[in-house]
Amino acid sequence: MAQKPLNWHSTAVEALRGADLTCRTALVTGGNSGIGVETVRALAAAGARVVLTSRSLSAGEDMAANLRKDPHVKGEIAVLQVDLADLASVRAMAKAFLARERGPDLLILNAGIMMCPLQYTKDGFEMQIGTNHFGHFALTQALLPSMRALGRPARVVAVSSMGHQLQDMKMGDLHYKNRRYTSYGSYGSSKLANILFAKELARRLKGSSIEVFSLHPGVIQTPLGRHVGTARGTWTGWLFGWLGAFWIKSTEQGAATTVTAAVSPELAGESGAYLTDCQIAVPSKEAQDEALAKELWDVTERQLAEAEAARAKA
Ligand SMILES: NC(=O)c1ccc[n+]([C@@H]2O[C@H](COP(=O)([O-])OP(=O)(O)OC[C@H]3O[C@@H](n4cnc5c(N)ncnc54)[C@H](OP(=O)(O)O)[C@@H]3O)[C@@H](O)[C@H]2O)c1
Repeated sequence: MAQKPLNWHSTAVEALRGADLTCRTALVTGGNSGIGVETVRALAAAGARVVLTSRSLSAGEDMAANLRKDPHVKGEIAVLQVDLADLASVRAMAKAFLARERGPDLLILNAGIMMCPLQYTKDGFEMQIGTNHFGHFALTQALLPSMRALGRPARVVAVSSMGHQLQDMKMGDLHYKNRRYTSYGSYGSSKLANILFAKELARRLKGSSIEVFSLHPGVIQTPLGRHVGTARGTWTGWLFGWLGAFWIKSTEQGAATTVTAAVSPELAGESGAYLTDCQIAVPSKEAQDEALAKELWDVTERQLAEAEAARAKA
């Protein structure tokens, strides 16, 4: 019998659709909180060995201990610490991961920070784009060779947001050195960057065994909103609260689109697609701009190399 299509209401476990991930490894960033937890739970319930990464090792260990008590969880859950706002930490975590694993079959770029006041990462990137985009870009670069070497289908999934429409990409000043900072605008650019990154990575990996997707998970009440009330211009806090009251999903529902992107066989051949509510969707016009995606890739690569060089000199 044909299965009902997945939709807004579907949960992460439903999105598995009976997928068997035994002998597969998933790495989920931000697995200690919010929709990351339900992503880890679902993938481990399908038998995957899941490496949950957490900014705080103890928060990650506590969550992993909790998840292991779930009778549906079949796969092993391991924990690694990483601060995506610190390139040295990203490098160290990738190294620790590769010391134990051959490579991730599923690389889930889920961690994120939203609407914080202007601050900078250890490498001088504005905190939101630095964490949400640059940190994940560096991690992907470090792990891609191992994913290729697996020689079997693998996926990279970037958790973006419908907030990618909040602001365009100011390529000449990604880090607000010479323009007014708005916390919502910066979040918007960082989430636009997630989609452009997925698009360009998919283009670069065309013909390989690795597919790439980006997505909006829905509106879910999680600690992500911790800065919203303090955001400059509190109308944004009011707006998000109002939207949330109408559109709020549970964390189990919030993780469903990520799980769909990670395991759905129906997405084979659709690399580069953007999803919402477990279905392929159309992001903003700017998010579909291939030239912009390529430009962002080049700018990111160059700025990462400059940051590494500055570290080496210091
Ligand atoms: N919730 C929503 O309505 C919504 C809507 C659209 C998109 N999203 C996206 O969904 C993803 C997950 O968000 P969520 O709602 O589940 O939020 P969350 O509960 O706050 O989870 C975010 C995760 O990212 C981690 N993180 C933040 N900064 C980090 C850093 N520098 N290094 C390493 N990890 C870091 C957090 O660690 P700590 O626990 O240490 O803070 C946490 O584990 C994000 O990418 C977000 O943009 C969420």
